[in-house]
Formats: sequence, structure tokens, C-alpha cells
Amino acid sequence: MTAALEPGRQQRRVLLIIGGGIAAYKVLELIRLLRKEDVNVLPVLTRAGAEFVTPLSVAALAGAKVHEDLFSLTDEVEMGHIALARAADLVLVAPATADLIARAAAGLANDLATTLLLATTAPVLMAPAMNVRMWQHPATQRNVRQLMADGVTFIGPEKGEMACGEEGPGRMTEPADLLHAVLERLNEAEFRFSSSEERPLTGRHVLITAGPTHEPIDPVRYIANRSSGRQGFALAEAARDLGARVTLVHGPVNLPCPAGVHCVAVETAEEMLRAVKDALPADVAIFAAAVADWKAKHTADAKLKKDAEKNSFTLELEKNPDILSHVGHLEKDRPKLVVGFAAETGDPVAAAREKLRRKRADLIVANDVSPQKGVMGGNFNEVILVSGKEEERWPRMMKNAVARRLMEKIAGILQDSDK
Ligand code: CTP
Repeated sequence: MTAALEPGRQQRRVLLIIGGGIAAYKVLELIRLLRKEDVNVLPVLTRAGAEFVTPLSVAALAGAKVHEDLFSLTDEVEMGHIALARAADLVLVAPATADLIARAAAGLANDLATTLLLATTAPVLMAPAMNVRMWQHPATQRNVRQLMADGVTFIGPEKGEMACGEEGPGRMTEPADLLHAVLERLNEAEFRFSSSEERPLTGRHVLITAGPTHEPIDPVRYIANRSSGRQGFALAEAARDLGARVTLVHGPVNLPCPAGVHCVAVETAEEMLRAVKDALPADVAIFAAAVADWKAKHTADAKLKKDAEKNSFTLELEKNPDILSHVGHLEKDRPKLVVGFAAETGDPVAAAREKLRRKRADLIVANDVSPQKGVMGGNFNEVILVSGKEEERWPRMMKNAVARRLMEKIAGILQDSDK
């Protein structure tokens, strides 16, 4: 799967809903980039959006009529709003404001934009842009989780200095990255199977671990890490879409369980190991969890008090079980394919090779998490697949595109091993 549209294909159409935020000006550049890639843009401008960019500039760049009004007689005669919703291969909301996100999450249809979002059957991509506090508000986060559970994909917001002068997540993703995401999503949307028999993972059981683990120190404290679980959850969705029965064993995360996936929520590495053993046998096991390497040797039953006399405190740690290594070394019930991840800041290939051997994995997905790559907490990932024989470098792409391509690769390996 490549990001660029392949020549000779039918022109694809993106319904572009422009919300009311200062980032709307960046959408003009995005329209230009989309047109350059031969993508047709059907622009929809909300009333608030029209306060930031004019219909004339949008129409001129898109080379198409700008739709603004749900109750426009002429628009309804030319192309009704239901037909407009159906005409798109993809819907992109940019900038997606807090208000637009809230109305979409509630399923309202009180203007053209929200009506189209309810009426469309195409994949929906949202690029939020708002003040950092508005983004972090529990109401916005609740709405985002709801939309994610409904199948909407979010790209951004990015961290940085904002028009309002504050710093933090809230900036809309840059047009070049949005273009990339749109092209990837269009290519994915084409990837459909007409019947379940055609799905390459039908009849297979895929076991996935995801997220961090929490290792208790006392009843109120624990050791944790910053893993969001996003890559593992995206893998579970991709495996499900390819027809697999999926068990997703995950640590504490802020993500809804994907529809059609069997989720097992755990806290500690020990619990994760137990849940993985219970879920076997599986055809494939993918270990995307960021398991804590260490746990407290003794967990206190009561909250630890600080000793006023002492300026330091020593917490004795002991090794957690290595879940990937345990499954990789199984004699009985070892999955046909055992896949691990390796997030590295040094040489990812050398480290992945060492992990492949030590943990007896068949494949390691290595990624460079150096800060300049912007992988941690971001939407994009750049991975290198390391197996016994070879290494394969993939270009930078969205995390769910990595998941889709990885599951396709795994399906291919399983099919070859059956021959
Ligand atoms: N892993 C696991 N159980 C553990 C630690 C890691 O299943 N206790 C899995 C991870 O899910 C990942 C792979 O092993 O698929 C590599 O994890 P990583 O933390 O990079 O490896 P470590 O063995 O902990 O090596 P490092 O010294 O680099 O931390």
C-alpha cells in the first residue's frame, strides 16, 4: 500500500468540512495539495468557518461549488445533502472545532456539516484544532472517545505554540501531513472484501497485548509508563477487519474496546501473563504492550509513610516475567507466528536482532523513538521489520496504516506457511 494514488484509478472524492477556527486558513493549502494529487474536493463551509475563510477562495482553489446551507433550494436541486454525503470516498473535518466534535458525538444534525456526518457511510477523518484547555477538557475528551468508538479516526492535534499564545496540544496537523493521512485512508478505504470468505484471517485467532502495565508499590502508588496503547488497539482493529477472532489483553488505557474484539483488561505484568496463557492457543501473538520491566519486590498493604529523619528512600525492585519471551519459548501451544515490538533510541536494527534471538520471536517491529521522529504520543510511526532473514524499512505512515499493513503481511506469512 503506498501513500500516493495509483495512476489510472478513478478519481477519488473527499468531502472537506471546514470548521470555524483560525486553522481554517491552512485548509486552503491542503485543498491545493489534494488537487495536485488528483483528488476531487467537495467543500462544505460551516457558518463559523466562513468567518475565517471566504467561500470564494475555497471555491477557486477547489474548482468546485462550496456547500454552506442545509436548506438551500438551489443546492438541493443540484445535489441533495444525502447525495452529497454519499458522493464522498472520505470525509475530512478540518479544522474540527470543539463545538463540531461535540455536535457530531451527540449525533446532532442541526446544520449541513453535522447532517452530512450522520448521513455518510464513508470513513471520517477529523483534524482537531482548538485552545489546549478546550482540547483537554473532560467533555471534549469524552466526545473524542465517543467518536473513536463510532469509527472516526483522529489526526492530531499537534503540540506547539498556538494562535492564542498558549503552548500544548491544540494545533491542527500541518497540510502536508494531512494530505498524507488522506491519501493513506483513501487507499485503505479501497481495500474491501465482498464476503467474509475472502478475508485472509478468517478462522484465525490473533492474540495482542497493548498498553502499559501498572506495578503497585502500596495501595495508592504504582510504577507506570507513558504508553497510550494506540498501536496495539489499531492492530486489533486491523486483525478484526481481516476476519480474525481477536483477543486484546491490555493494561490501563484510555481507549474504548474496539467493536467485535474480545478485550481483557489487566493491571500488572503478572496479570497480563496469566491472561495471555488463558487466551492460548492462538495462530498469531503480537506483543505491542509496554510491559514494566520491574515491579516492587514487596507491595505494602498500607500507604507508605515518609520517614522525617531520612532524605532518601530505597525501593527494592525485582524483574517482571517477560511475556513475549515466555510465549516464544513455549514447546506446546506456541503460536505459528510470534511478533514483538522494539522501541529504540539507538540502532533499532541491532537491538531488534538481539531481541528476536533472546525472546525467540519470529518477527520484531522496530521503531526509532528518538524525539526528532515525533513517534511517541503522535499519530505517525516509522518502522523496520526485522526477521531471521531480512529487514524491511517502511516509510513514515499513520499508526493505523502501519497496523493494517502489518496484519496484511502476517496474513501473507500464515498463508505461505500453510502451503
Ligand atoms: N515484552 C514483554 N514482557 C516484558 C517486557 C517486554 O512481553 N516483561 C515485550 C514487549 O511487548 C515488546 C518486546 O518484548 O514486544 C520488547 O520490549 P522491550 O521493552 O523493548 O524489551 P526489553 O526486553 O524490556 O529490553 P530493553 O532492555 O530494551 O527494555
